[in-house]
Amino acid sequence: MAIAQPATRPANPRFSSGPCAKIPTFDLNKLADAALGRSHRAAVGKDKLKAAIEETRDLLGVPADYKIGIVPASDTGAFEMAMWSLLGERPCEMLAWESFGAGWVTDVVKQLKLDAEVKTAEYGEIVDLSTVDFNKDVCFTWNGTTSGVRVPNGDVIPADRDGLTLCDATSAAFAMNLPWDKLDVTTFSWQKVLGGEAAHGMLILSPRAVERLESYTPAWPLPKIFRLTKGGKLIEGIFKGETINTPSMLAVEDYLVALDWARSVGGLKGMIARADANTAAITGFVETHDWIDFLATDPATRSNTSVCLKFTDDRIADGAAFAKAVAKRLADENIALDIGAYRDAPAGLRVWCGSTVETSDIEAMLPWLEWAFDAEIEAQKAAA
Ligand SMILES: Cc1ncc(COP(=O)(O)O)c(C=O)c1O
Repeated sequence: MAIAQPATRPANPRFSSGPCAKIPTFDLNKLADAALGRSHRAAVGKDKLKAAIEETRDLLGVPADYKIGIVPASDTGAFEMAMWSLLGERPCEMLAWESFGAGWVTDVVKQLKLDAEVKTAEYGEIVDLSTVDFNKDVCFTWNGTTSGVRVPNGDVIPADRDGLTLCDATSAAFAMNLPWDKLDVTTFSWQKVLGGEAAHGMLILSPRAVERLESYTPAWPLPKIFRLTKGGKLIEGIFKGETINTPSMLAVEDYLVALDWARSVGGLKGMIARADANTAAITGFVETHDWIDFLATDPATRSNTSVCLKFTDDRIADGAAFAKAVAKRLADENIALDIGAYRDAPAGLRVWCGSTVETSDIEAMLPWLEWAFDAEIEAQKAAA
């Protein structure tokens, strides 16, 4: 029996968790003012890089005494640079509850060979943050993009800690409140909540992180693209738009356009509200359909950007094959692209609900999810 298809389709089927949907008003012509073919060290290029830093500060409410730099290699570059430059001065704790956090653990334990205390939780769960010793350096991911589990708030991080907190906030920045006084290093990339382009990372340093950089030299060598100090002093230029190596001025322009849009929807507050509204639409669906649930077990830790879902119906014979088939039906119909769970995560779906996604598109997609689920249950029956 053919299952009837819903009448309405999302205007934009892009629900990927990175690169994420571009701003709803995106048009390549908006990049016409890019400083293309000019030196990034000329005034025109430098002014744009500086504007990207200062607009970021303003929109995110980053304190004036924190440094913000644009660095190579997207969020990965920014986070690696921080770990390799700062860790090793004191014991550290590595926290992970999904694959990106786990990747940072591997680096610290296997590459830097630090004797770190590693605390992990299964997909859907979070590490008990009350057990963490913040007098050590602590590395963690604010929002686990592949599990849809986030830190609910920074309350457990003491203001008077001795260690540094290194936070990978790539799928959190611009969609969640980040407590700057609790974060010494924060990184993110443009390709996530802002729907920008990959390639460049943002590195935000507290005064204590800068103090560490200027008072501690790691025992291992650092390549040029990781070096944040010269002669024991912070390279201030990096935090004024004098990038370590050549940036893409097209990507910079795209970021500036996205920041402009962020301001037009109410800045950080407006961006958070948009992600919350998208997630609320999914929550409403999950609450009224007993065959689907969030991967995140505790509602307080549920992400409002990378929303991860699992199928819970007893009739499903092979969970991974079923989830893949549902995602394929939605992609084939051009209803939802790239919503299969991350390759290392449990079987299911991951729907990006970040601020560039329109709630009307999530709402239009959900009846199709029901259609794809019903169709796949029928197909499974027919094949049995
Ligand atoms: C939590 C987290 N960390 C790091 C990365 C890597 O980001 P990038 O590819 O921008 O370096 C991602 C990408 O999805 C992520 O979700």
